[in-house]
Amino acid sequence: MKKTSRLWLPMIVLLMNISLLGIAQNKIIIHADQPGSKIDKAIYGQFAEHLGHCIYGGIYVGEKSDIPNTYGFRLDVVGALKELKVPLVRWPGGCFADTYHWKDGIGPKADRSSIINVHWGGVTEDNSFGTHEFLNFCELIGADPYICLNVGSGTVQEAADWIEYVTSSNESPMTKLRKKNGREKPWNVKYWSAGNETWGCGGNMRPEYYADLYRQYASYMRAPGIYKIASGANADDYNWMEVLMRDARGMMNGISLHYYTVAGDWNKKGSATQFDENVWFTTMQKTLKMEELVTKHSAIMDKYDPSKNVGLLVDEWGNWFDVEPGTNPGFLFQQNSLRDAMVAGINLNIFNNHADRVRMSNIAQMINVLQSMILTKDKEMVLTPTYYVFKMYNVHQDAKMLPIEIKCGKYTSGANSIDAISASASVKDGIVSVTICNLNPVNSQAISFDVQGLKTATVTGKIVTANKINAFNDFGKKEEVTMTDFNNAKLNKGMVDATIPAKSVVLIQLK
Ligand code: AHR
Repeated sequence: MKKTSRLWLPMIVLLMNISLLGIAQNKIIIHADQPGSKIDKAIYGQFAEHLGHCIYGGIYVGEKSDIPNTYGFRLDVVGALKELKVPLVRWPGGCFADTYHWKDGIGPKADRSSIINVHWGGVTEDNSFGTHEFLNFCELIGADPYICLNVGSGTVQEAADWIEYVTSSNESPMTKLRKKNGREKPWNVKYWSAGNETWGCGGNMRPEYYADLYRQYASYMRAPGIYKIASGANADDYNWMEVLMRDARGMMNGISLHYYTVAGDWNKKGSATQFDENVWFTTMQKTLKMEELVTKHSAIMDKYDPSKNVGLLVDEWGNWFDVEPGTNPGFLFQQNSLRDAMVAGINLNIFNNHADRVRMSNIAQMINVLQSMILTKDKEMVLTPTYYVFKMYNVHQDAKMLPIEIKCGKYTSGANSIDAISASASVKDGIVSVTICNLNPVNSQAISFDVQGLKTATVTGKIVTANKINAFNDFGKKEEVTMTDFNNAKLNKGMVDATIPAKSVVLIQLK
């Protein structure tokens, strides 16, 4: 009896150490021999609304600005976005879209009428950035444009005219107007949606009413190869999805879904940078809700569309915190910390893993608004932790998704537990890319990767992490969060072993 307890004691101590150090045996099985759907590059899309300093100051400063620009577009921002390989930009909103009358934003700038941006701070919108500027900007950064039509306060005729103005190569009053405004050839714009959040700021409609209205708009959304998008559900409003799929599925190519991670509640969302580990945990937990939303909405879509013709497009997502102290509450300007990097990584893993149904996503928003890639202040520009995660993950764009099985330990806070690891994998040009998030801010995770169907010869990696959960990049300071090489993954008897540091987002590439 005595002898047994002497043997058990060191064993228990060893096991405790193992779990404290994160050496618990996590395993990720990657089925490289069973490539699945293409991860549409549009999953890495962005959203740019006429809100705060996303467009004005962020993208566009005007040709007369002393901030270096080309045709009014900031050169530093254009360069950073090109490096990110942004595949798609959604515009002009958001809530702004259902107040926007596109003819206000064409023609000589001096003749364009100003309007009030009723949703976002009541500021004057001078319409100096309109259709031509948006589409030229997309051409400049090499992204596909995605235009949201005005359903809430517009007309079917106005929407049809806009599509004709932009896409037609035939002669018509609209194409004559386009040519008069300096653009001879049409633009190639594939993605068009009929309204935004039509259950809320886009008209406060009931799903039955919007389904009929959508059918009407869709009847006049005409252009070769056009991809028609219906305004979809708010988070877990499954009835909205049910009604739209039941009544309008034959007339749409995609339907949207909006879900934001709000760490607190909508009245007190919490600071973007001042938070503790409890709030970190809640943020992770609320982000993981995206898995449930995508799964349940997909199940409804499967019922009506088993061949998966209609895409689920998460065209607004990301962290929504309180605005930075001293900034206009209507401008939604928030900082961006390592926590945002983690939230980006988790969401993108979820979308990759559901690539059979999720065909697009647009983080809100690209610059200076909510969970941004880039922050600007006059001439200065900051690349956020989220920027680096998008840069890391762009290897998945248009790659084939690989099914994975994750066997991992839990990250526990009080009575609540979540999986400590989130991951997704893809293959392109013979290279298997695995992206992994370690949600645990204290313990590292030792993981063995079993890549079935690949004889791995080389392993390389990248990492985004920092020494604090709330580390962030600020103007005029050295970056606290960036992307560096990750050399911690090693080949081991046909498997790959890696220790993923606490609170990190990691890319491992195998070939
Ligand atoms: O992204 C900010 C706003 O959030 C959008 O304008 C709206 O669609 C959503 O409610």
